[in-house]
Amino acid sequence: MTATILTPAAAGRSPADTPDGAAVTVTVRPLDPGERDLVERFYAALSPGSRYLRFLQAVGPALPEPLLRQLLDSDGVGRVTLGAFVGEECAGIASYAVLDSQPDAAEVSVAVAEAHRRRGVARLLVDALAQRAAAHGIEALVCLVQPGNRAALRLLRSLGVVPVLAGGLLEGRRLLLPPA
Ligand SMILES: CC(C)(COP(=O)(O)OP(=O)(O)OC[C@H]1O[C@@H](n2cnc3c(N)ncnc32)[C@H](O)[C@@H]1OP(=O)(O)O)[C@@H](O)C(=O)NCCC(=O)NCCS
Repeated sequence: MTATILTPAAAGRSPADTPDGAAVTVTVRPLDPGERDLVERFYAALSPGSRYLRFLQAVGPALPEPLLRQLLDSDGVGRVTLGAFVGEECAGIASYAVLDSQPDAAEVSVAVAEAHRRRGVARLLVDALAQRAAAHGIEALVCLVQPGNRAALRLLRSLGVVPVLAGGLLEGRRLLLPPA
């Protein structure tokens, strides 16, 4: 899947009003289990605060092995990890994993590199995950967010999701339509 988004300098303007070079192409594709270095580098480059918001716990620049395995051991059905690329650079990573307690729902998580934020990369990734999840019979995507995470709450709102308080976190649930 590819999409065109605006560069930060052109963000907020209409694509029709932006000069040549203001748009970049983002490619979204599944990450290969062999792309361990890429995944490690992506999370090491995020700020500690962004890693905390993504993993809902304090995580150092070197991801613990269980978290890395969750991202890399994708089976393409119940567990999927997608990367968004601008050229060779990984701009964002999003994943879903079917919940043990709700086999018809999957928990989704996303992080976007600081330099590529507010350009629609997260929404692109979540939409691509939603398409794959729906194609595999998953009926809902669930996202847990820290109550103070303004960017993630705005992302949920832009997807039409109204989060509710659940055990100190906010839980957003996006119902998926089966593919036509
Ligand atoms: C949350 C996060 C993934 C958003 O990524 P992004 O690529 O910047 O988001 P998008 O550009 O797709 O934006 C989607 C919507 O959120 C809004 N938004 C994004 N960042 C925002 C911010 N800092 N403040 C206010 N709104 C923000 C966008 O304006 C857009 O809404 P709109 O269409 O109504 O304008 C990113 O900030 C991030 O990686 N945060 C750290 C990890 C995290 O919090 N993950 C979420 C929990 S799993």
